[in-house]
Amino acid sequence: MTRIIYVNGRYLPYAEAAVHAEDRGFQLADAVYEVCEVKGGRLVDETRHMGRLARSLAELSIPQPMSSGAWSRVLRETVRRNRVRDGLVYLQVSRGAGPRSFLFPPAGTEPTVVCLARSAPPAQQEAAAEAGIGVKTMPDPRWDRCDIKTVMLLPAALAKEAARAEGAKEAWFVDHHGFVTEGASSNAWIVDGEGRLITRAADTAILRGITRTTLVDLLERVVRSWAVPARAAATAAEWRRLREFPGAAADAAAVYLARLFALELISPQFCAPGVVEHAIEELGLDAAKLEAVRSDASVASLFGQLQ
Ligand SMILES: Cc1ncc(COP(=O)(O)O)c(C=O)c1O
Repeated sequence: MTRIIYVNGRYLPYAEAAVHAEDRGFQLADAVYEVCEVKGGRLVDETRHMGRLARSLAELSIPQPMSSGAWSRVLRETVRRNRVRDGLVYLQVSRGAGPRSFLFPPAGTEPTVVCLARSAPPAQQEAAAEAGIGVKTMPDPRWDRCDIKTVMLLPAALAKEAARAEGAKEAWFVDHHGFVTEGASSNAWIVDGEGRLITRAADTAILRGITRTTLVDLLERVVRSWAVPARAAATAAEWRRLREFPGAAADAAAVYLARLFALELISPQFCAPGVVEHAIEELGLDAAKLEAVRSDASVASLFGQLQ
């Protein structure tokens, strides 16, 4: 349960935490956010999340509200005050408050900052990962800057509701050319009939998920620096290829997002859970290594751990 929420420099009881009625995040979705996993009391992939936040802010010309040191303190203090050991920490930054206008507010307007933390017992997620989930595909109705992590999430919310109505847990968006872009709140991967791990290249049609990036780094390092068997090399070398879905032969699919490293999808097209995991293992990456590297944002040391 969330007890305390950080709002603009103050830690407030849940019921008292509020932002201005004319906040631009509220009126115009003029805001960005990040969600970082908390595991065993530690923040996972913090550096990458904060790097992506900085990029989102810069793309929208929203001033960075505080230094990285201050961010680190706010995140940790919010986690601490909410006694979160396993769960998430959420932060949001809007362009600030002012009389409603499409045009940006005057320079010097303070961004609005909110940070909250919540426990989420891993058991439930682990059970879902074990069993697999259903996915519903649908046309991608979003704008062409999905690489910016904005709070403009109505298309994702509608998509997830539509998926739920059909007993699925996630929606996969498909672009005008029939290619999967990503999940409503996750990146999409498939393993094709030849065991290749495939995901969409990180263009502006998808969010560059932190979990996706970590896996990509691992795969690239495996290929570049390890004496890998030819098949594994071919597997990883092709991972960037876009893949049509549904229709193309896919043996398995998975979604990747922070808090839930791999959640495999099952549908009539896909075989039982475990195929994606198996393909990753074939590259010499087992679950324990993946977990170990996730808690370390430094790619260099990440590679060291793997060797
Ligand atoms: C649209 C979208 N794609 C991908 C992701 C996965 O990103 P990450 O791995 O950084 O959690 C998310 C997570 O919220 C998302 O909303």
